[in-house]
Amino acid sequence: MKILSPILFFASSLLAVAAELSLIPVPAKIDYPAGGDFVLDSGVRICSAVPDADFAAGFLSRQSGISSVPADGKIIFEQLDTPQKINADPEGYTLEVTENQIVIRAIAPAGFFYGAQTLLQILDCGNDKIAPVRIADYPRFRWRGVMLDSARHFQDPQWIKKFIDLLASQKINVFHWHLTDDQGWRIEIKKFPQLTRVGAWRDGIGFGFRPDETEHYNSEGRYGGFYSQEQIRELVAYARERGITIVPEIELPGHAVAALCALPQLGCTGGPYRIWEKGGVSDDVYCAGNEALYDFLEDVFDEVADLFPSKIIHIGGDECPQIRWKTCPRCQAKMRAENLAVTMDLQSYCVNRIAKFLKNKGRRIIGWDEILADGITNDAVIMSWRGNSGGIRASKLGHDVVMSPTNYCYFDYSQARTGEPRSFGGLVPLGRAYEFDPARDVPAEFQNRILGGQANLWSEYMPNEAQVEYMLAPRVCALAESVWSPADKKNYEDFSKRMLAQYKRFERAKWNYRKPEGIVVRLGAGTMIFDCDLPGATVAYTLDGSVPDKNSPRAADQCTLTLPKGDFKILKARVFLPDGSLGKICERYLNFPKALVKTDLLPYENFIPEKAVDGDRNTFFWANAPVPAGATFAAFFDSAKTFSKINCITGKNENGGGGDKAENAVLEISSDGKAWLPLAYFSNGNARANIPAGTPVLAMRIRFLKAQSNWLVVREFEIE
Ligand code: ACM
Ligand code: ZN
Repeated sequence: MKILSPILFFASSLLAVAAELSLIPVPAKIDYPAGGDFVLDSGVRICSAVPDADFAAGFLSRQSGISSVPADGKIIFEQLDTPQKINADPEGYTLEVTENQIVIRAIAPAGFFYGAQTLLQILDCGNDKIAPVRIADYPRFRWRGVMLDSARHFQDPQWIKKFIDLLASQKINVFHWHLTDDQGWRIEIKKFPQLTRVGAWRDGIGFGFRPDETEHYNSEGRYGGFYSQEQIRELVAYARERGITIVPEIELPGHAVAALCALPQLGCTGGPYRIWEKGGVSDDVYCAGNEALYDFLEDVFDEVADLFPSKIIHIGGDECPQIRWKTCPRCQAKMRAENLAVTMDLQSYCVNRIAKFLKNKGRRIIGWDEILADGITNDAVIMSWRGNSGGIRASKLGHDVVMSPTNYCYFDYSQARTGEPRSFGGLVPLGRAYEFDPARDVPAEFQNRILGGQANLWSEYMPNEAQVEYMLAPRVCALAESVWSPADKKNYEDFSKRMLAQYKRFERAKWNYRKPEGIVVRLGAGTMIFDCDLPGATVAYTLDGSVPDKNSPRAADQCTLTLPKGDFKILKARVFLPDGSLGKICERYLNFPKALVKTDLLPYENFIPEKAVDGDRNTFFWANAPVPAGATFAAFFDSAKTFSKINCITGKNENGGGGDKAENAVLEISSDGKAWLPLAYFSNGNARANIPAGTPVLAMRIRFLKAQSNWLVVREFEIE
């Protein structure tokens, strides 16, 4: 907290500037007119003057505890008679607080509901006086989505309502529900009860989790669960009242092992199949050459379309290996009969058939960007997840697009480099999620094709509902602002301040949200700077790698300290609040050794090359892409050194090996930086060698003999 000088304090109180409201997502237009405060006394009542606002008024009443009356309320919902104020958007609303009343106006139920949500955020500041404010608000994008994967791990149907509540509070309007995959079939289909009798249950929780990390077992001790049609109808209605469309995803032609377990005749080989308890991509997919498959899928989509009124239905389409199709007589016969040159054409054929079937029911398909191939129907909406390039290409080809690129929108990725629960890998901190812009790099003439954006909660590493909550909150707020608010209203610093109120909302709603670091730590020349906005906080820090605790040195919450002299590697700092709560630990690296790294490989996030030469195996360089053949990663000393042994450690395991290790690569040294001497090949991520006696070493490097599809982690060059 900054202490205002008495003069400033006096001046600001004279100006009587209204404290800015902490609204998320930030509204399109907000201003604070002069005037007296609205007093929220016990006589205030809510009143809806239009049937379209009845749900919103009741919702506001239940959430706020303010009773509603048929007439003469002071919090009023009424029809908006100048819709241009909100671009005539059914989701738009105006909200006006004056001394005498609060009025929410809109033209449709969704707008009234969002007006109520905004008012709840205003009311929850807890003050009984509300300064005048005028808001005119409407969304930037029509598709503001969050996908939940209920296949890899199952979530309780009752909890799904809590999930919907959170989405609705952030003006998210699409809940994309991933209901089928290799690890489970989660939707009751009356015509095929075996889909859930067999396909909804697997031997164990899988993915390396302890059995007690979930409660979702049946009486036989099998892990899983499914949503009955009755439960689904209830959830669809619950979501709909809250402005949310549930878009079901029934995966095809890949990610179908759970269905194949129930109906093995629908695979190319006929099985036997076993429900997966791990992640990855199965070679066993639906047999796209089998007419019985289309009968089956049409029956399934009959029931799906009946359950979900959504105009758009997700058919998956991602990660479908075609290896079985290449040798399957039925698939080969189908390709000949339909004149399909390659197996990818068979995938498009399969997707198009379902698209056509659904079109006859007045529905459209959406699929992951793999479906964008020759011959795919123009009508298909493309969900771009492998970056935004597939989406941009699709928009140019005339497809509507939802952007959901991994590097901003994969909320199964970790929220920080250290101190986080096991996750899929990858990194999407809150600030990164905030940078998401669905229209980025899309040429102006195709921007109208971008329906919006979406975050994805793949649940491989979310064994229970609490972990889903942790991965979603607070990042859903960053997403919300990226898809709702005007681009020029976005500002991360301002957002971070408004988030302080949002964290309290998470507390009240009992969300297992990820607590903020609450602090920005920066390194200057010989200084460390702490910047924190939590009132009454102090900062504890260490320089020896240990976890800051109550006995560690303390600093004020906003200060610049001189770094003491010494050979430090790491600064760890963390906020201590007066109520005893602690922030997450922030880490910054201080001194890197004199070795200079030269490489064309780009770092992922801040896994910078220098971390491979900082003397610490726990910190590492991480390339942001697969490694091409011939690539090098070289460390140069400032002058030639003599030493006897060299050990280079790569890969995700602390001592080398595991994912993202150097595969077909050789460790080399050079005395002049020009001629290189190969010393050892990498084996399980490690290369160790003795240096020929008397050889001065100016540089050491990893050279890749072949390309590798994995990224690269370089932990350390160690010398003796
Ligand atoms: C995906 O992440 N496979 C769509
Ligand atoms: Zn086949």
